[in-house]
Amino acid sequence: MVIIMPWNPDLYQKFQAQRSAPFYDLLALVDVRPNLKVVDLGCGTGNLTRELADALPNSHVTGLDSSPQMLEKAASYRASNLVFQQGDQSTLKGDWDLIFSNAALHWSENHTELIPYLFDKLNPGGQLTVQIPSNHNHISHQVYRETAEEDMFKSVLQGYQRYAPVLPIDDYARVLFNCGAEDIVVFEKIYPHILENADAVVEWISGTALVPYFERISDHKDAFLESIRVKMRTAMPDSPVFYPFRRILFSARKPQ
Ligand SMILES: C[S@@+](CC[C@H](N)C(=O)[O-])C[C@H]1O[C@@H](n2cnc3c(N)ncnc32)[C@H](O)[C@@H]1O
Repeated sequence: MVIIMPWNPDLYQKFQAQRSAPFYDLLALVDVRPNLKVVDLGCGTGNLTRELADALPNSHVTGLDSSPQMLEKAASYRASNLVFQQGDQSTLKGDWDLIFSNAALHWSENHTELIPYLFDKLNPGGQLTVQIPSNHNHISHQVYRETAEEDMFKSVLQGYQRYAPVLPIDDYARVLFNCGAEDIVVFEKIYPHILENADAVVEWISGTALVPYFERISDHKDAFLESIRVKMRTAMPDSPVFYPFRRILFSARKPQ
């Protein structure tokens, strides 16, 4: 079952420059060939899907996302070679020459099954290229999990916590190898972001990691956020603040 979370496209796009950097690293892994049938899983606001389509001559790209709010923004990028569809990436249908996904697969569980499932949807010679954040042990994530354990929030959240289903990096290489993949590339990269201060870090995670908490915390959202901010100001007191962000990128090809 896909849970449709209330994404806020404007807040997500606030850090567009920083969030785009890994997209370009991922795009650099794509074997550019003409006439590809491409899907961008978790395409979000669509601006990067537009860039993907522009980089692939004579290809047809589908941006898939579960969020109506994100797809509403994406609609303006629609063109003859680019369409957007609502759907769940974990039940992707069809056959594809390129399955691309930037910062979205960590919203679907069980990667040891998900990656082979997606790999199976590739045509012979097709490519899977994925970027997922692996920053879940950063202090910013520890702080909101701690806050969610506080009595007043814990009861409203009914004990909810979200743990990223991201595997240790070696496991992605192993899972791809077990799929029979060729040209396997797997690496982790730290993106050295510099943000204004701790509040900006909270704003960053408000556009992503906190979304499922906001969905459940209703009237207590402001108090929850303020409690996170207070702790984060202690944890990350500098201004500007260094926010190193860890991400896993991988690519693999299905044999011809
Ligand atoms: C962090 S955003 C990334 C958006 C875009 N790929 C980018 O690089 O800017 C994650 C996106 O994944 C989408 N998403 C989350 N779970 C999904 C699912 N099960 N199926 C499809 N999209 C999903 C969200 O709606 C959101 O737009």
